[in-house]
Amino acid sequence: MCGIVGYIGKRDVAPLLLEGLQRLEYRGYDSAGIALHASGKAGGLKSAKAKGRVRELEARLPKRFAGTTGIAHTRWATHGAPNDVNAHPHLDAEEKVAVVHNGIIDNASDLRAKLTAEGFVFVSDTDTEVLAHLIARSEAGTLEEKVREAVKYIEGTYGIAVLHADFPDRIVVARNGSPVVLGIGEKEMFVSSDVAALVSHTRQVVTLDDGEMATLRADDYRTYTTEGSSTSAQPTTVEWEAESYDMGGHDTYMHKEIHEQADAVDRALRGRIDDRFSTVHLGGLNLDARDARAVRRVKILGCGTSYHAGQIGAQMIEELARIPADAEPASEFRYRNPVVDPDTLYIAVSQSGETYDVLAAVQELKRKGARVLGLVNVVGSAIARETDGGIYVHAGPEVCVVSTKCFTNMVVSFGLLALHLGRTRDLSVADGKRIIEGLRKLPGQIEEILANEAQIEELAKEYAEAKSMMFIGRVRGYPVAREASLKLKEVSYIHAEAYPASELKHGPLALIEPAMPTVAIVPNDELLEKNRAALEEIKARSGRILAVAHQEQEKADHTIVVPKNEDELDAILMGIPLQLFAYYTAKAMGRDIDKPRNLAKSVTVE
Ligand code: F6R
Repeated sequence: MCGIVGYIGKRDVAPLLLEGLQRLEYRGYDSAGIALHASGKAGGLKSAKAKGRVRELEARLPKRFAGTTGIAHTRWATHGAPNDVNAHPHLDAEEKVAVVHNGIIDNASDLRAKLTAEGFVFVSDTDTEVLAHLIARSEAGTLEEKVREAVKYIEGTYGIAVLHADFPDRIVVARNGSPVVLGIGEKEMFVSSDVAALVSHTRQVVTLDDGEMATLRADDYRTYTTEGSSTSAQPTTVEWEAESYDMGGHDTYMHKEIHEQADAVDRALRGRIDDRFSTVHLGGLNLDARDARAVRRVKILGCGTSYHAGQIGAQMIEELARIPADAEPASEFRYRNPVVDPDTLYIAVSQSGETYDVLAAVQELKRKGARVLGLVNVVGSAIARETDGGIYVHAGPEVCVVSTKCFTNMVVSFGLLALHLGRTRDLSVADGKRIIEGLRKLPGQIEEILANEAQIEELAKEYAEAKSMMFIGRVRGYPVAREASLKLKEVSYIHAEAYPASELKHGPLALIEPAMPTVAIVPNDELLEKNRAALEEIKARSGRILAVAHQEQEKADHTIVVPKNEDELDAILMGIPLQLFAYYTAKAMGRDIDKPRNLAKSVTVE
């Protein structure tokens, strides 16, 4: 959600920042802008902004737009419509200060009123502009002090990068609730909201904490708190390769990431299976057998796709460890003054590790003394750092706004956790072994599903005419249906509803007619006959059915057959063909698959 990138060094900054913005575009794509310290005698700040994608900005850069220090932003609108004026960077009236900002300033209207009364003139509708005026208004001697003074007025969240015409030798950045990562180069420094924009230049990064600031100069950086005391943030090495951010010959990141799933699952399993005791090693969990046995309940919190992964995870934990478990949207949980129970293990699940609602839920839980683990993809992200331990899902960078491979790796990681918890309780050695064998089969079975791409493409073309679709599943299949319906609506904009198959006759059956196809998840488990009965009910109302099943379904118009795994693990595989189904439906409809309208990756605001 919004991307920031900045550079100070010797290179021509505009092309560098444009490249960084392209890499960050998945975080927001309704407008973009750049500000730089202009080279040449006149100096001063210059800026350019444009509504739309980064290519629009590139086309609009003035002829003479050179410098070696600059900041840039790609926006996902929160305050103020997406247009040229509301695009970042925001400058004060005298163009001394330029600011790019991620996050939301909650008290922006009060500050705006106060600054207007003092004679400051606002040109945009954004909350960010108050920061430019506050910094410009400060009479402090250094840029660091000016920024420190300004952020003291701010209530809300920010990740900011600031240029000042009088301080051409530095960029000052600050973080509170929105990620800021420094990239440490050779006589050049970078800053970004995301390592995606850094890894092609350096893999040495410093992630700022909330309440931390930094000054970047070409040949050094310094970190300190918003109170002014020095901190000693040390660089770490990013594991992900620069190439993993490229499209690698695919037409979209979504297609690429769907096809990366066998490798990604392999990575999630690597080094974790313990054949000797038919269990798994999860080093970062910080939960020994005694702690694990003390857990009376598990509560999983996440948003969107990650919440759906949590629903499957809860079911796996109940089945394999026999611990009562459920999942809830973190965005709901944090607003309902939940009862926090010391015997409950809380698990926050998030791809980015930065989703504000999840982070806020974690912070509330920790304030109330709960034990919270993270199931996270981005190493060193805010949620990974706030939690008491956890599991990295090792999906690799996910660039497409809609989540695919990360969902699969989250569910696999929940499978590992369920096995671990189960083996500290009543799950037998034999069952442990059976689940391990099932887990080991997953990468090969994923390849098998993806090899069936041509059939799925044909089906997608056929169903792309539907205005609305129903997705059904029962127990293990229900969260799969929910996730598949979310995927379809996100990328194709076709309306889709997900229901438990068992609930059909309690209402949604009224919707069934030939124009409303149903996608049914029909695993070959103890509920097969029940699921078949639901297909009968739909057929009797002339509904069209596309089944995802372990064998051809007689009542379905079409079946996508997937390989069978252990009953407890089938949910990991059954959604994968429906990721391709969503992708090809969107493609047939000419949608912008990697960047669906109104969405952004990493929702770092409420
Ligand atoms: C949907 C999707 C979103 C995210 C949600 C949580 O395809 O990607 O629903 O799952 O915004 O994001 P993370 O997992 O980063 O916390």
